[in-house]
Amino acid sequence: MSNKMWGGRFASSPDAIMEEINASIGFDRHLYAQDIAASKAHAQMLAQKGIIAKDDAERIAHGLDTILSEIAAGTFPFKRELEDIHMNVEARLAELIGPSAGRLHTARSRNDQVATDFKLWVRDAIDELDEALKGYQRALADRAFDHAATVMPGFTHLQTAQPVTFGHHLLAYVEMAARDRGRLRDARARLNESPLGSGALAGTSFPIDREMTARALGFDRPTANSLDAVSDRDFVLEALSAASIAAVHLSRFAEEIVIWTSPLVGFIKLSDKFTTGSSMMPQKRNPDAAELVRAKTGRIVGALNGLLMVMKGLPLAYQKDMQEDKEGAMDAFSALSLSVSAMTGMVRDMEPDVALMKKAAGQGYATATDLADWLVQRLGIPFREAHHLTGKIVARASESALPLHRLPLAAMQAIEPGITEDVFAVLSVDRSVKSRTSLGGTAPANVRKQAKAWLKRLEKGGM
Ligand code: ARG
Repeated sequence: MSNKMWGGRFASSPDAIMEEINASIGFDRHLYAQDIAASKAHAQMLAQKGIIAKDDAERIAHGLDTILSEIAAGTFPFKRELEDIHMNVEARLAELIGPSAGRLHTARSRNDQVATDFKLWVRDAIDELDEALKGYQRALADRAFDHAATVMPGFTHLQTAQPVTFGHHLLAYVEMAARDRGRLRDARARLNESPLGSGALAGTSFPIDREMTARALGFDRPTANSLDAVSDRDFVLEALSAASIAAVHLSRFAEEIVIWTSPLVGFIKLSDKFTTGSSMMPQKRNPDAAELVRAKTGRIVGALNGLLMVMKGLPLAYQKDMQEDKEGAMDAFSALSLSVSAMTGMVRDMEPDVALMKKAAGQGYATATDLADWLVQRLGIPFREAHHLTGKIVARASESALPLHRLPLAAMQAIEPGITEDVFAVLSVDRSVKSRTSLGGTAPANVRKQAKAWLKRLEKGGM
């Protein structure tokens, strides 16, 4: 038997392999709510414009509601021979309401239908992700406020650089998440034009009202060019780009969690809630959630790369290649949303070892810059020269295996006679962080203020 939806000129049914490669119902069934919403908006518009009868439109709307509840209840009979969600819904509609169902596809093609459905789906995914990222920011800002004065070593090249505060470090990720949310919102704003009514590629001769369907579906306006509307997937690419950057941010933090929880470092502990054990080594407590967040970045960026490759050689307008836009994107968004939840959980769960972090902050001559700055500020020595003198003092301390603040004053004076007892005040890590009060600096007072400002902004629904 040939396909009921398009089989007019076909005498026999497709090969089993043809059916298998062609079908998308296995994944585009996730578009059911969007497909039904768009069909309802379309039918209502057709009736309003006198293109179909009002009672046909009512029967269609009623039938679509029934289908919505059947799918939600898990009783809907999805059929692979009906290829995709659009034809599964329409075929079921015909079973439920009879010939009126055949009027729904007037002035519409699966090409504008799928573009519309997937835009609605991506828009929902962006909105959900935005909420999740906000929760992640809130968790970070909460912990940052509590640890505004907790000192830890700051690193560059993974070498001890200068003392920073743990709260400051956490707030860095709040800023990244804010930009991630901004990028997602930008993508949302650009995608929010309705393709519905573009037809297969050229528009339609029916007197449709595209403004009406656009409004009904929460779009800002209809798309302006029918060829473009059915044949671009830049809205998916853009959302995936924003998602990829967000995933990379999470992955970097996940990597830090892996480092911090290593017994070699020990800055933080995760509880039983966010660690797993080893089946062979009873002592182990592994940060699997962080490792998996780090790893999932691969499939998220992979989805972006995959779709870029799908699109790069496609002439206008719709090509079946574009059916490959969904699986990767759906997988990427669900992986990212799980990753955000896992990171939020770990942020709330992690317990820093405050004493150990502070001790580590004092190692590796982390306050050498403070010494150089003291030489500049107190003795009027040019910074370049102060840097050089401090390097000599650090070398001297290192030879005697002493931290800077344990090096005798006389030893420092042998290198720079102007140094006085006062210098020891700036060599402590607490003094060091307290002095970094420049805008955006790590001083506890700054961090407390920033964390509070973030919490207030997030409370008010801002980014
Ligand atoms: N399942 C298809 C997709 O996801 C729907 C559009 C099919 N259109 C067509 N002319 N074959 O892209």
